[in-house]
Amino acid sequence: MNSQTVLVTGGAGYIGSHACVELLQAGFNVVVVDNLCNSKSEALARVQQITGKTLQFYQADIRDPLALANIFEQEAIDTVIHFAGLKAVGESCQQPLRYYENNVYGSMVLIEAMQQANVKQLVFSSSATVYGEPPSVQYVEHFPLSPINPYGRTKAMIEDMLRDVSAADQLVKPENPWKIALLRYFNPIGAHASGLIGEDPNGIPNNLMPYVSQVAIGKLAQLSVFGDDYPTPDGTGIRDYIHVVDLVKGHIKAITALQSDKFAAGGCQAYNLGAGKGYSVLDMVKAFERVTGQTINYKIAPRRAGDLAEFFADPSLALQELDWQVEKTLDDMVADTWAWQTKNPQGYQ
Ligand code: NAD
Ligand code: UD1
Repeated sequence: MNSQTVLVTGGAGYIGSHACVELLQAGFNVVVVDNLCNSKSEALARVQQITGKTLQFYQADIRDPLALANIFEQEAIDTVIHFAGLKAVGESCQQPLRYYENNVYGSMVLIEAMQQANVKQLVFSSSATVYGEPPSVQYVEHFPLSPINPYGRTKAMIEDMLRDVSAADQLVKPENPWKIALLRYFNPIGAHASGLIGEDPNGIPNNLMPYVSQVAIGKLAQLSVFGDDYPTPDGTGIRDYIHVVDLVKGHIKAITALQSDKFAAGGCQAYNLGAGKGYSVLDMVKAFERVTGQTINYKIAPRRAGDLAEFFADPSLALQELDWQVEKTLDDMVADTWAWQTKNPQGYQ
């Protein structure tokens, strides 16, 4: 039995709640800190319902150093998984300072609190968006980073900060170094197979799958397919969709790797978490129709500003060093999205 304790920042959110389930099922003790700015505590109740286990919840903001100090004092934390952050690209263009303050400054406060508490194992939620527009559509970790929006820049800045903190500490405290995994997610979709937890976007969804499932259930009238003139086989955009449960399993693999010989001398390493395979918008619509038996009403609309034609992961480093790869299929992603949508047409409300 695993008796380690993991602090999950943003644990009430979409990915964080799925991580809590997998952590509890793997035998970890789980402590969550979340200010509920984009989530509901009901998600944590459901996590406990699914697992039959309890977790400790602190409703607090990661920008509050006293709140964090209190958590590290009360709980014997071994590792932190840092999900807390704002994530809407469009909103980050309208309110850049809010994003820098929440994501970058929030991460600084967290890192400082960890340093004070001598907790130096960290798994960080980064994003494929840090790559910007690299030379190839299959992204490899060593590609230069050039994010094209404020949200992406907050992720790249946090990555830089963590690399700097880790390097500095390796020089002064080689006996107790930072061990950090930067996990660059591709396009997480789907939900827990129970249909009890899933993605609960505020208002009209921006992302493809939540939008498609709300069209299928009749909440939204029609999907706009943003562009059918991209240089892809059917002209629509291609992305690397990854089941959220596969994604969170990658975090547990990362914790194991941080505690292995590979990280004995510390370090900060980025890993792509994706399937290594892309599907087009129309592939996703067809899969949704096939798996659910629903018809998706859609129209072709102009391209969305800032969208790339195609990108997907080279996930070989995660396989090699974390022993991780995706297990779920496209049909699993669709079926689980649909189970969540039909069981919770109004989300957690
Ligand atoms: P989410 O909004 O559902 O979850 C984020 C959680 O963090 C929410 O519960 C929110 O209340 C909390 N939070 C935000 N700021 C906070 C603060 N200052 N203090 C305490 N809690 C705070 O988002 P998600 O989809 O679960 O994403 C989790 C992480 O993964 C984010 O960092 C996001 O940028 C990153 N990410 C997500 C995706 C995606 O497609 N969902 C892709 C790449 C990376
Ligand atoms: C977006 C974010 C990215 C974030 C990711 C999380 C942008 C520019 N990028 O990526 O930073 O990490 O979400 O999952 O916002 N599409 C439609 N109609 C819709 C919605 C989407 O055709 O109503 C298309 C898009 O043009 C794209 C594909 O579906 O080709 C996927 O879109 P989306 O789910 O928004 O993800 P990304 O744009 O890849």
